[in-house]
Amino acid sequence: LEVNVDFLSVVAVDLLHRELVHRHVPLDARSAGARACAHRIADTLREVTEAPELRERTVVGVSVAVPGLIDAPSGTVRRAPNLGWREVPLRELLLSGLAGSALAGATVLVDNDANLGAMAEYRFGPLAGLPDLVYVTGEVGIGAGVLVGGELLRGAGGFAGEIGHLELDADGPECSCGRRGCLEALAGIGAILRAALPDLVPGRPLSGAEVAELVAVAVDRASAGEPTAVAALERAGTWLGRGVATLVNVVNPGAVVLGGYFVPMARWLVPRCREAARAGSFAPEAGGCRVEPSDLGMSAASRGGAAVMIHGLESGTLPL
Ligand code: BGC
Ligand code: NA
Ligand code: ZN
Repeated sequence: LEVNVDFLSVVAVDLLHRELVHRHVPLDARSAGARACAHRIADTLREVTEAPELRERTVVGVSVAVPGLIDAPSGTVRRAPNLGWREVPLRELLLSGLAGSALAGATVLVDNDANLGAMAEYRFGPLAGLPDLVYVTGEVGIGAGVLVGGELLRGAGGFAGEIGHLELDADGPECSCGRRGCLEALAGIGAILRAALPDLVPGRPLSGAEVAELVAVAVDRASAGEPTAVAALERAGTWLGRGVATLVNVVNPGAVVLGGYFVPMARWLVPRCREAARAGSFAPEAGGCRVEPSDLGMSAASRGGAAVMIHGLESGTLPL
């Protein structure tokens, strides 16, 4: 399951990674508040478990991807800027919400959305198996899941990879984190749409459905060569490349995969991103890093969460 700003997306797979159920459940995480959301997530999980496709099956594990800083061992959300959440013991709340249900014995993992997206790329994406791989989310926020030698880079507090909050322009637009000019305030999907479609984007936060529609309009306009849309997408590509350059200089990945809504915009984003990444890398030749769009669509984090779970079962690190 993946928690987004105003909806949950739920994917159920079997142990062979075959998709059995795929649902989209509206839930406004910003206004509902974290505890009410935890309830809704638990209810949604119970409902999905009762779907005809799963009725004859046992759900052994659930992974929950959250767009924020996660203490993965405890499953606590420390801070999710685009949800307005802080210090939410999500795993604990889910375990109590699932008590007494068919999911009571299931393993529950909570992790950062980009981290789980990276696990999906490592397992299924166009560059699967590449041990030094970074996955960058292209949604409301920008985050990175950084794989080093095939392992997720977590850092001392578990918060590695927060490239969305790299400050690239001290005088830039305000970010969800309260600071200015962060990468996601410049090249997150909201920022891209505001710049590309100034006549269509309202001055309030966009709903998930609006974002999906407006992305299609921005892509249409850019395809038709409309200069405002093209310039906005290209500028976002350059900002992304600045973020990628920092990754290259610090962790030297073999490739950076752009996911989410960056995929339909790849034609304009990727060339500028490559260019800026090269220009900003200290050792461009030695450190040559590919930049590619993902092909996993919008369910990378959910699929990655399932892959982590299945791997844990196979290797005996998670109980069956
Ligand atoms: C959050 C990250 C998250 C990213 C993508 C950022 O605002 O800080 O933790 O991975 O958005 O959702
Ligand atoms: Na991350
Ligand atoms: Zn920020």
